[in-house]
Amino acid sequence: MRKKVKVSAPGKLMLFGEHAVLYGYPCLVTAVDCRMSVSVEETKTNDLELNASDVGIKDYVKSIEKLGKGEVSKGARFVEAAVKNFFQRFEVASGLKVRTESDFSSQFGFGGSSAATVGIIAALANLFKKSLSRRQIFDLSYQTIIEVQGIGSGFDLAAATWGGTLYFTKGGDKVRPISHQKLPLSVGYTGIKADTSALVHQVAHLFRRKPKATGRIFSEIGSIVERATKTLKNGDFQKLGKLMDLNQKLLDKLGVGSKELTGLISAAKAAGALGAKLSGAGGGDCMITLVSEEKRRKMERAIDAAGGKVLRVQTAAEGVKIEE
Ligand code: PMV
Repeated sequence: MRKKVKVSAPGKLMLFGEHAVLYGYPCLVTAVDCRMSVSVEETKTNDLELNASDVGIKDYVKSIEKLGKGEVSKGARFVEAAVKNFFQRFEVASGLKVRTESDFSSQFGFGGSSAATVGIIAALANLFKKSLSRRQIFDLSYQTIIEVQGIGSGFDLAAATWGGTLYFTKGGDKVRPISHQKLPLSVGYTGIKADTSALVHQVAHLFRRKPKATGRIFSEIGSIVERATKTLKNGDFQKLGKLMDLNQKLLDKLGVGSKELTGLISAAKAAGALGAKLSGAGGGDCMITLVSEEKRRKMERAIDAAGGKVLRVQTAAEGVKIEE
């Protein structure tokens, strides 16, 4: 058995279809070239020792039997549950030293917890010589995420697992890679952490209060995703930008926009963006925008002047992989 394994998994950006994906509609997600690295080392103790500087966890120790039980520190929840689920599924156990390190801030909304979860499962599979397919890595990661947070489509796990750009439905019922030309995408960070769970509950509440109107919005978002999938394959970025604007209008109707997101989106549009929308749950985190090369600098300056931070990322990054 190998004693130490290091893997890395990418973060994600939702391109189209957030929220509606939780109601059975598809979404489009892309993996970004910001990675979470996870190293797992076998030890002779009966403990899980965790260091996860990205979420403020230093020298956290928990006995293997108690994983997932009792007080679980917030930043350690996903790792604990992932290790426990892997050990239970494959009937193995060992003391472990786990270290996660990301090359992006956990504040951006790039899906650090999901990338860490996928990373742990993939690393343990390698360490314990279990040859898991990407589908099996996704399924065990999805089980873990649902156990920890109760809700989620799993789109972020899919990006971390398979990489690339994916047409995706809840729970991974459909996962289709979409190949496309390099996306002329820019990202603007609002500086505000989105509360995904609160926003998901807010939309669920709206759906209960106004089922017909809200259901119609979900279905319109679903049809935008279908059109965006074709448009992305064809490389028609003008049209893709228009679809982003339409998707954003519907997200505003769901009430998940925010003053800051609107500010950055309007600034990008005024500076010549082909389209712009929030990415993820809303309320904060990032907005994404498509822009021609000639207008990129002007548009990025406009995002900056509107109080946003421009993040440079490449899309369709590689999925989880063994590094060492
Ligand atoms: O806030 P994020 O980046 O985790 O995105 C949430 C996207 C939702 O569709 C609202 C929820 C989900 O799990 O798909």
